[in-house]
Amino acid sequence: MNASGKKVCFMTGASGKLGSEIALAIAGQGYSIFFTWNSSQEKAEKTLEKIRWVSPESRMVQCDVAKVSDIERAFSAFSSHFDRLDLLVSSASNFFRTDLLDVTESDWNSLVDTNLKGTFFTMQAAARIMLRQPFLSRIITMSDISADLVWRNYAPYTVSKTGIQHLTRIFARETAPHILVNSIAPGTISAYPGRESEPEGDLLKKIPMKRLGDPMDIVMAIRFLMESEYITGQVINVDGGRLLH
Ligand SMILES: NC(=O)c1ccc[n+]([C@@H]2O[C@H](COP(=O)([O-])OP(=O)(O)OC[C@H]3O[C@@H](n4cnc5c(N)ncnc54)[C@H](OP(=O)(O)O)[C@@H]3O)[C@@H](O)[C@H]2O)c1
Repeated sequence: MNASGKKVCFMTGASGKLGSEIALAIAGQGYSIFFTWNSSQEKAEKTLEKIRWVSPESRMVQCDVAKVSDIERAFSAFSSHFDRLDLLVSSASNFFRTDLLDVTESDWNSLVDTNLKGTFFTMQAAARIMLRQPFLSRIITMSDISADLVWRNYAPYTVSKTGIQHLTRIFARETAPHILVNSIAPGTISAYPGRESEPEGDLLKKIPMKRLGDPMDIVMAIRFLMESEYITGQVINVDGGRLLH
């Protein structure tokens, strides 16, 4: 059990490029972290090692969020180690190009099951715990500004992210006043040092702030939501003004 008495965060997708930075930042805010990875065990172990420097009681578990049974198993493992849940960050996501006329059932299932179904059942499992607690808790979903754009060749991905934004509003309404539920919609984030100097195509021309996002831009938005007590059902676009273009 959580003998440390610290606040606790359950996070999916913390083995990701941006996800690992988010998990580290939340640990740095004084939280115990319980996170999931799916196929990247080595990356997950490196992330856990870093997190444990500041939060030694933190743990990780393998979980394919496209499978409800895996989500149930992960939450069962969570509950055997931690007796409170203050924050869920649902970040697990699949992303690949799918030309509209060539999308297969397998492409659709892989993208929509991971991103939308996985986010729904993770939120549901977290809400079941949070609604029993006598204190305010928070859910932050990770969507994408593509939910508000009409990208070519990414239909299942963008539809899944649009669905996540609507799930965010639904959970916010149905779980208030116990849970604050919001979404972060990143623009293009440079998770690799030096990538800013090699922008893809004309992307920078479409970003009023004239740079790609940095993981810290996302971390700062998450920290803001972790402090807020009156914002719910919102999508915060962290995109350097890309959606203004
Ligand atoms: N980075 C960006 O520029 C950007 C832009 C817009 C939106 N976002 C959103 O921000 C969030 C974090 O991005 P990121 O850069 O960390 O993404 P990423 O590097 O692509 O990592 C994806 C994460 O999702 C996990 N995942 C994939 N399929 C899974 C499955 N079936 N079950 C469980 N976990 C699964 C991966 O785990 P394994 O590797 O262990 O399989 C990994 O931890 C995502 O929701 C992403 O869509 C990112």
